[in-house]
Amino acid sequence: MKTLHVELGDRRYPIHIGPGLLERPDLLRPHIPGQQALVVSNATVAPLYLDRARAALAGLRHEAVILPDGERYKTLETLNDIFTALLSHRFDRDCTLIALGGGVIGDMAGFAAACYQRGVHFIQIPTTLLAQVDSSVGGKTAVNHPLGKNMIGAFHQPRCVLADTDTLATLPDRELGAGLAEVIKYGLIRDLPFLEWLESHIERLLARETAALSEAIERSCRNKAAIVAADERETGERALLNLGHTFGHAIETGVGYGEWLHGEAVAAGMCLAADLSARLGWLRWEQVERVRALLARAGLPLEPPPALTTDDFLRLMAVDKKVRDGRLRLILLRDLGRGVIAGAVDPQRLRETLEAARRE
Ligand code: NAD
Ligand code: GLY
Repeated sequence: MKTLHVELGDRRYPIHIGPGLLERPDLLRPHIPGQQALVVSNATVAPLYLDRARAALAGLRHEAVILPDGERYKTLETLNDIFTALLSHRFDRDCTLIALGGGVIGDMAGFAAACYQRGVHFIQIPTTLLAQVDSSVGGKTAVNHPLGKNMIGAFHQPRCVLADTDTLATLPDRELGAGLAEVIKYGLIRDLPFLEWLESHIERLLARETAALSEAIERSCRNKAAIVAADERETGERALLNLGHTFGHAIETGVGYGEWLHGEAVAAGMCLAADLSARLGWLRWEQVERVRALLARAGLPLEPPPALTTDDFLRLMAVDKKVRDGRLRLILLRDLGRGVIAGAVDPQRLRETLEAARRE
C-alpha cells in the first residue's frame, strides 16, 4: 500500500492506494469520529462491494442508501434520497457519510455531507479509475442541472480516501478508458515525465497490469494533491485540472447526461484544447498529433459528437464555472506538460477549432 497526503493544515488527510483495502477497518475507523455511518452507493457497485465495506464498520451503527446508477441521476432529486435516509435513521451532526462508488456517487455523497445539518464527516472509497485518480481527491462535490454540469455544489474535503485497486477488476473496459483520460490530463498540464511514462505504458494499463495501474494512480494523486494543497478553492492553478473540461461539459450537457462518459468528453475536449493551442502558436502541430495518438491508443474519442454545432458549443460553453464577467476562460497548453489559464482567447480561433473538428 502507498499513502499520500493532501496537505490542508488541520484538515490534512491521507489517500491510501493498494489492493485489499476494503478489508482494512484499521484504515477506515480512525476517520469516523462518531458512532453513526451511512454508506452511499449505487445499484451496480453495492452488490459487488457493499458487504465488505459494511463489515469494516462492525460495532458502529451503520446503514446504507442505494441510489440508481448513472450520470443522469446526479441530480438534486436523487440527493434528497440521501437526506431522507439520514433523517429517517435519525443521524446526527457527528455522523459520517461514506461514498462507495465512482465519481457520481462521490460527488453526490460529498455534497450531501456538505449540506446535512450544515456539514458532517465524509470518507471516499472510490471504485472507478476516474474516481481513484481524480474525483475522490480535493473536495469538489456537486450535482448537475439540466442547464449546466456540476453547477450546484460545494467544497467539502473527505477525512480519508481509500482507493482499493482490487475493485478495478470488475470495471467495464469503457470506464477504464474514461479514467485514463483524466490520468493523461495530469501529464499534459504539469508532468511531462509522467506523459512520457504513459506513452510507454498505455497498453499495460489497458491490460490492467497491477503494477502499472498502481503507479498511474499514485502519480495522478500526487499531482492532484499538490494542486489542491496549493489552491484548494480554485482561485488560480487548480483551474488547470479543467483541461478539456469546458468543451467536455458542453458535450455532456449537449448530448444528454450519460450518453458520453465524462472521461470520453474530456478526451475530445483535450483534443480541441490542443488544436486551439496550436492555432494560437503555443503548440506545434506534431505535438497535437502526439496528444491525439495517446488518447486514441487509450480507445478514447478524439472528435466531438457531430450533432453539436459550433453555435451549440459556444452557447453551452458560456455556462462554465470559469466564466468571469461574461468572459470565457479556457485551459490551454503552452507546451506539453505546461497548462495555462487563457483569459482572452480570440473568438475567431475558437470558432476555427470547433469547425475544423466538425470537418474531421
Ligand atoms: P460513475 O460514477 O458513473 O461510474 C462509472 C460506472 O461504473 C457506473 O455505472 C458505476 O456504477 C460503475 N462502477 C463503479 N465502480 C465499479 C466497479 N468497481 N466495478 C464495476 N462497475 C463499477 O463515473 P466516474 O467516471 O467514476 O465519475 C464521473 C463523475 O465524476 C462525473 O459526474 C464527473 O463530473 C465527476 N468528476 C468529479 C470530479 C471532482 O473533482 N469532484 C473530478 C472528475 C470527475
Ligand atoms: N477535477 C477538477 C478539480 O478537482 O479541480
